Amino acid sequence: MVTVDARNLPSHVGIIMDGNGRWAQGRGLERVEGHRKGSAAVRRIVRAGRRLGLRALTLYAFSEQNWERPELEVDALMALLRDFLLSERDEILDNGIRLNAIGNIGRLPALVRAVLDPLRHESEGNEQMTLTLALSYGGREEIAHAARELARLVASGKMKPEEVTTESLRGWMPSLSVGDPDLVIRTGGERRISNFLLYGLAYAELHFADVLWPDFTEDDLYAAIASYQQRERRFGRVPSQSSEPVAAALEGMTASVTRIAV
Ligand code: IPE
Ligand code: IPE
Ligand code: MG
Repeated sequence: MVTVDARNLPSHVGIIMDGNGRWAQGRGLERVEGHRKGSAAVRRIVRAGRRLGLRALTLYAFSEQNWERPELEVDALMALLRDFLLSERDEILDNGIRLNAIGNIGRLPALVRAVLDPLRHESEGNEQMTLTLALSYGGREEIAHAARELARLVASGKMKPEEVTTESLRGWMPSLSVGDPDLVIRTGGERRISNFLLYGLAYAELHFADVLWPDFTEDDLYAAIASYQQRERRFGRVPSQSSEPVAAALEGMTASVTRIAV
């Protein structure tokens, strides 16, 4: 049993869902079968995140670089994405989940847009949890886009060069509209970021799990969160300083639910 402290949940969790292809190949199956299984894992983890009370969950589903994969695999991934959105529509709406998408959404095929756009719209007032799908997403691309938008404002005289700051840049990053990621999990055994949320990662806690994404369970998510809760986040300060805001935030909170066993 893993114990998760309900007072110290990461507010924004990001997941690099990796290992679908290897899951399938290890079983002598086509890679697409791994993606199909991976889609079931997405359902599980979205449900678990919502039950736990996460404010934001960002799932890296398809990178800008993943377009370079064989056409058949890309087509299968897009079809699975559409199926996922269709089958999860009611669950998303019934559970107060706001569906959000980041990345080069214009590059997605019409068959995906036709279900993605209405669901984003229908769920935009939901406040329980924001589920962001990173689709055709790249962290470098997002930074370049933000820089371009600020450059336009400066060129047109609406902004001064000195006003280009870490904060004004952040304002142009859709991935950070739900705040910086507190915890980023990567499944599948690789210890790399692969162009995910680069700007927001500055002080994220990283958790690498060897389990392949289709095998990732609720317990694996809880274990990642429990590991996050063991860490001291210092944000460049010394320990006594960095714990002050946490202590202040907890003051006045009723201690009725301090620990939940999951
Ligand atoms: C992650 O699994 C899914 C996507 C990147 C779309 P992979 O397809 O990268 O699986 P591996 O890493 O090849 O096992
Ligand atoms: C990262 O996985 C992208 C997603 C999980 C969507 P990749 O499989 O594309 O990353 P690399 O190629 O191992 O770095
Ligand atoms: Mg991979």
